[in-house]
Formats: sequence, C-alpha cells, structure tokens
Amino acid sequence: MASAAKHLIAGGLVAFPTETVYGLGADATNSTAAARIYSVKGRPKDHPLIVHIASMEGMGDWASDVPEYAIALGRKFWPGPMTLVLKRSELAADFLTGGQDTVGVRVPDHVVALALLEAFEKVGGKGVAAPSANRFGHVSPTTAAAVVEELGNYLSKDDVVLDGGACDVGIESTIIDCTGDAPSVLRPGAINVAMIEQCTGIKVTQSHSGTRVSGSLENHYSPAAKVLLCETPLPGQGFIAPVSIKTPAGVIRLASPSNDEEFAQILYSALREADAQRLAEVVVIQPIGTGIAVAIRDRLSRAANGR
Ligand code: TXA
Ligand code: MG
Repeated sequence: MASAAKHLIAGGLVAFPTETVYGLGADATNSTAAARIYSVKGRPKDHPLIVHIASMEGMGDWASDVPEYAIALGRKFWPGPMTLVLKRSELAADFLTGGQDTVGVRVPDHVVALALLEAFEKVGGKGVAAPSANRFGHVSPTTAAAVVEELGNYLSKDDVVLDGGACDVGIESTIIDCTGDAPSVLRPGAINVAMIEQCTGIKVTQSHSGTRVSGSLENHYSPAAKVLLCETPLPGQGFIAPVSIKTPAGVIRLASPSNDEEFAQILYSALREADAQRLAEVVVIQPIGTGIAVAIRDRLSRAANGR
C-alpha cells in the first residue's frame, strides 16, 4: 500500500478494487496523471472523474456549500456504493470535473481501497480520481484479471494493479446530484431512491439537465457480443437468466443468479465470459424487481445498444 501510494504521488496510475467495480486511480490534484487516465481509457476529456477519499472528513477539501441532506447521505451510506455530486471547491480543477462547477465524491467500502486511500493521505495525498478501469464504453471490470485484460496494453510497466478479489456489489455506484434543493439520481445503483428518501426525508427529483454523465450515454457497459433482451435464446447463443429459468437445449448458460444482488454481482463477469467464449450474441432475462434490479436494467438497456 505504501509503495502504491508513493506511485500515485509520483503521478503514476494504480488500479484498485472497490465494492462496486475496479477503479483506475490517479492523484486527483495532478493534471498530468489525470490525462493519463483519459488516454489509457480512451475516454473523451470532458467526462468528469469521481474523487475517492478515505473518509467523509475529506469531503470539505473537494466540495463547498454541501447541503444538509448530502451530509445525511454521507453519514448513512459511506463507506459505500454512492457518489455525491456537489458544488466543487477550488481544489477540484477543470481537468477533474470536465469544466463543470461540480465534483463527484465517494468513500468506497473495500478494505483494499480504504487502505490505499489512507496510505495516500499519509504521504500528503488528498484524493484519488478514479473512473471504472475499462476502456471507454466497455463493461466495467469486477476482478483484477479483467482490469489487466482491459487495460494491460495501455498501462505502463511501473503502473500498479491491486488484486482484491471479485467485487461484492458488481455494478457502479449510485450517483446522486446534490446541487439542488432535493437529491436527484444521475445513475441508479445499489443505493436506491427509497433508501435516499428514507435517509433524507426529501422526495427525490428528476435529474437536472445539463449534467454530463458518461455512464448515462445510451451505449455504454457493452461487451463485444450483442446483448439481446426479451428474447428466447437460440442454440449457440449465450444466456444469462435467474436460476428459476431453465436453459433450452444448445444454449450456453453463462450465469444463473438466485437473487437480484447476485445478479448484479455476476452480471459483468458473465458478459465478459460471453466475449471470452467468442459468442456473437447473449440473451439476458432481466430481473423484474425494484431495488438494485432497477440499476441492472439500466446497465442492460445500455449494453443492448452495443459498442
Ligand atoms: O462505482 C463507481 O462509481 C466506480 C468506482 C471505481 O468507484 N467508478 C465509476 O467511475 O463508475 P466512472 O468514471 O466510470 O463513472 C462515473 C460517472 C461518469 O459517468 C461521470 O460522467 C460521472 O460519474 N460524474 C463524475 N463526476 C461528475 C459530476 N461532477 N457531475 C456529473 N457526473 C459526474
Ligand atoms: Mg465507467
């Protein structure tokens, strides 16, 4: 951890596990390091990065005029799968925010991520900018091996990939815009609307227009295989469906989750497996519930729009 933290301070990149997906980290105050994130990911420069911090105490470094309800959310759900979009402080430069006057902040809930962030603070770091550790538009990695598969050809030899095993949640954090009078959800995730309303006592509103979220592009989170929803799988196609649904003959079953949490957890690795097996198409039967099923359907509908 100490050497990974030093590598960050020196402007290097460190990929690390979080409870949601793996992130590709750089010192959030270093514009050269952040520029490398964009080139390694192949991501357009106007898409903002989330700053990861070790605890809520660091929020004041990056954000200003934090509303009461955002503090309540941080107290309740951090460390956890939630990103708060707040008015930025002076420290949050344009290269981080894509020129917007807001900044995304998150305290991840993973022992390796927190150890890295704490080690980074010990050597004077303030926060680690980290998007998901995949090429732009692709499926986020949920294992260290998937990070290497995605970015191995683009990272330099001294960059670091920390292996913390498979991610628990499996899909990206809920992004909540906290710049208005009421919270609004920019990207659904494990922290759902009911949980936000219960915590804040405020009704969640429609998202304000004009905020750019690359994860909300219509085609995103896509494997090379074509993702088909609402179809009956044919022989030779991949198939991801709840365990209660049987596999027709000749169909290649990639995953059989027994509940929505497990569905989220295995979704991206199952889509990657479709590509590993060079399947042209994968049929997914979506979970129908509320809660995290909403986020799963969100990602699947974008995946279905292809690369
Ligand atoms: O779970 C996660 O959030 C993972 C892990 C690594 O923490 N990170 C992640 O980062 O998914 P990324 O960059 O792949 O997706 C973050 C999304 C992007 O779509 C970005 O546009 C949006 O968050 N975002 C970041 N800062 C923002 C801001 N100030 N305003 C609006 N959207 C923002
Ligand atoms: Mg991403």
